[in-house]
Parts: sequence; structure tokens; C-alpha cells
Amino acid sequence: MSFDLVLFGGTGDLCWRKLMPALFAAFKHGTLPPGARIIGVGRDDMGDDRYRALIESRFQSVEQDKRPNSDEFQRFSALLQFVGMDLSRPDHYGHLRDKLAQRQADTVVMYLATAPDLFAVIAEQLALAGLNTPNTRVVLEKPLGHDLDSNRAINQTVGQVFTEHQIYRIDHYLGKPAVQNLFALRFGNALFEPLWRREHIANIQITIDEELGVEKRGAFFETTGTLRDMVQNHALQLLCAIGMEPPINAHADAIRDEKLKVLRSLKPWTAVTLVQDVIRGQYAAGRIAGVPVPGYRDELGVSPSSNTETFVALRTEISNWRWAGVPFYIRTGKRLAGQDARIVVNFRPTPHAIYNAQIGAANRLVINLQPKDGLELHLLAQAQDKRQLSRQLIPVQLDLDFDKRFGAERVGAYERLLLDVIEGRLNLFVRSDEQVEAWRWVEPILTHWQSDVQGPRLYASGTWGPSATSAMIARDGFCWSEES
Ligand code: BG6
Repeated sequence: MSFDLVLFGGTGDLCWRKLMPALFAAFKHGTLPPGARIIGVGRDDMGDDRYRALIESRFQSVEQDKRPNSDEFQRFSALLQFVGMDLSRPDHYGHLRDKLAQRQADTVVMYLATAPDLFAVIAEQLALAGLNTPNTRVVLEKPLGHDLDSNRAINQTVGQVFTEHQIYRIDHYLGKPAVQNLFALRFGNALFEPLWRREHIANIQITIDEELGVEKRGAFFETTGTLRDMVQNHALQLLCAIGMEPPINAHADAIRDEKLKVLRSLKPWTAVTLVQDVIRGQYAAGRIAGVPVPGYRDELGVSPSSNTETFVALRTEISNWRWAGVPFYIRTGKRLAGQDARIVVNFRPTPHAIYNAQIGAANRLVINLQPKDGLELHLLAQAQDKRQLSRQLIPVQLDLDFDKRFGAERVGAYERLLLDVIEGRLNLFVRSDEQVEAWRWVEPILTHWQSDVQGPRLYASGTWGPSATSAMIARDGFCWSEES
């Protein structure tokens, strides 16, 4: 199968941080279709060779194990080509048409890794240039829009040019191995299903901690913030994967129908919950791994009086028969004390205690997304010693460590999703109605913040965020998993 991938934003941050390493990994694993072309699109008119040299230099800042050696790069770079275009100029789309006309690829993927306000323009211009052929697929990066209206406007314009089954809205968290495994755990086994409900689950905690700050993306982040960057998409998709009903089959729409129902069932915000159940924070100067780092307001491209949030913690519920009354907590932020992501399912304690034991970290399923991925089942066990004298129950852990079980060299999130686009599998992509519901649910928070004079709570870099986060969960009589 011949295949052309056109990367709009071909010189941008996402391209070299995530997409090129993922494409190189697929190339190395032998899963890129033979004869694939990767066509970077950017403003500079640099030609293929300079583009290859640029990508090679950018690979230097990628983690060592994801970086090609010079021989590998030589072979990989033969796939790379470049088209210089000003995306707002209709005549420039002719350059791309000429490039694509050099051969008739079986599948053409237009990957829009640009600012979302360009999506509609690009889609329209592709149509005018006759490049929205039936064998074309379009990938839209997040955030798709800035709010409900802009999301709808983009989806409407792109929807006039491509049919829904040609549109791949990417959320790379759905490509993470642990998330796919969560689907397998829930829908490939009968074991947890009877327990997966309000009668047996006390609360669910979704945490995405980042040590990194906004890096060179200050200007982007200023108008985005953590709610739009992480919660509206990644965290809510994780919540859907945990909360959805079993789909009737494994087809894309069956899965997406069930995720949509979860998003529609999220408890609406009230004037009270907007204040009590949502915390926004912003990092101040501090230390990460002993190294001093500046506060958000001192980052490049950021206003010294910025109120943009770099941390969000919130509490919500899914209002349906399965979940009514079970709190779902979401917590994510930048410049925190660690870099990890996990979902913790806390089961209810035994109805009657016959042992005198502290439950602590037991009765819990942990789905680790990163840096290590896998599953941990925390239980209480009778402590054993050689004289069998112990009467103590202690917390123990059953581990499924993916590295140990499947080997460390596995398909990463972007690689998985790019291969799915090539093969036309929509299961792990987001449908437009899911996005609309997610925006509808976060919008009252954005509106509330506009008139909230308090602004974000400052937290020192290298800590776990504002202390109010612990107070929020304590109101329900719970604590964050690492505090128990
Ligand atoms: C991106 C956000 O979608 O996800 C970034 O725009 C964030 O701000 C990144 O750093 C986190 O992804 P991962 O896979 O590194 O957890």
C-alpha cells in the first residue's frame, strides 16, 4: 500500500517532539508502509535536504533511546520531503497538489499539527485545491477550538470538506498502552464488572503530574491553560474509559457512543460546586530536582500578571445508575514534584471488620499510565514469618508491569495512533459529538473564572500544587492515594 503523510506544522514543536520520533519508531519496527512519503509543510521554503538536516538536528533533543543513529537516520530521511507554503494563501496549495501528483498514493493523510484557528482555513483550501479525495484522511490535533462555539465552527467547516469517517481527532492519551489495557481489563474479563459500580467503589482519582513547565510554549499556553490543554480532552477521556458501559462490540462508533453517554451524564456545575469543587493553580518559582526554575509569570511569552492556570483539581460525578454519588477526582498540573500519570480506583472497605487492620493502601486498583505502565492490585494479606507467629494483616501488591511482561520496546501512543490512521481504524479517536459535550461541560468553569477575582492559587514549583486540593477531597472523607 502506498502512503503519503502531509504534516502541516512540519517544523513545529509537536512535529519534532512527538510525531517524528513516532514515525521513526514505526519505521524501525517495520510497520510504516514501504515507500511511504512524509511531507513536512512549513512557511520557510527550505527544500528537502535542509528539512532533513533540520529534523536530524531536532532529534538531538529527543531521548536517547528514541533517537536514530546516523545510519538509521540516513535511511529514514529518504522518506522526508518538504513543501514551503503560506497556509493562508490559496495559490500555495498548488505546491502541495503538485507534490502529491508526483504519484497516486493509495492513502493520503493530512495531519494538522498547527494552531487550531488554522484548521478551518486549511480544510477549505484543501477542498478548493481538489485535495479532499475519498482516499484522504485528516488528523486534527487538540485542542480543537477554544470553547464550544469555536469547536463547533471548526467541526462544521471540516465536516463540509471531509466525511466523519475521514476525520481523526487525536487524543494521544487514548493511544497509551495502559489505556488500551484498561479497555481490555474491563471488557475482556468478567472479574471486575460486578464490582465496577457505586455499591463497591468509594471514589476514583485521575492524576496527571508533570515536572515540565510550559517550556517554549508560553504564548500558546497563555490563551489555553490547563483546563483546555489537559482536562477538556485527556483527563475526560480517561474518565470515560473508566466510567463507560460495556460497548456492544469493539467498533469505533459502539465505543464512542458509550463515551458520549458518560460525558452527557457528568453532573452539571452549580454556583456552589464551581467554587467548592474546582481549584485552579499557577506555578511560582521553585526547584525541580534541586534546580531552581522560574515561575510561570516569568516564562517567555507569558504576561507578568497572567491569571492562566497551570494546575487544575476538580471533583465531579457521573449521574447514572452505575455511578450516582461516587466522586471522580481529576488533578493535573505542570511543575509538580513528579512526572507520572495514574488512575486509582478505591474500593469500599469490607462491610464488617473482623481483623484489627489499617486498610491504608489496600482495596485498590491502580492503573499506571507513566512513566512505567501497568496495573497494581492492592490487597490486605496475612503477614508471614518463618515461625508463623504473625497475626498482622499488611498491604501487599499484585503487579502487572508491562515492561516485564511485554518487554520495554513497545508501540508508543503517537506511533499506535499514526498506524491506526494509516490503517483506517477510528476506535481510539474522538468523535465530534464527544468533543462538543466535553466543551459544554468545561465552559461554565471558564466563564466562572473570568469573573472570579481570586485568580489562580500560586504553588511553588516542585511541590504537589495548592494545598486546597487535599482539603477538597477531605470534605468527602477521603484523601489522595499517595496520602494514605
Ligand atoms: C499535551 C499537552 O497534549 O500533553 C502538553 O498539550 C502536555 O501540555 C502533554 O505536556 C502531556 O503528554 P504526555 O504524554 O507527556 O503525558
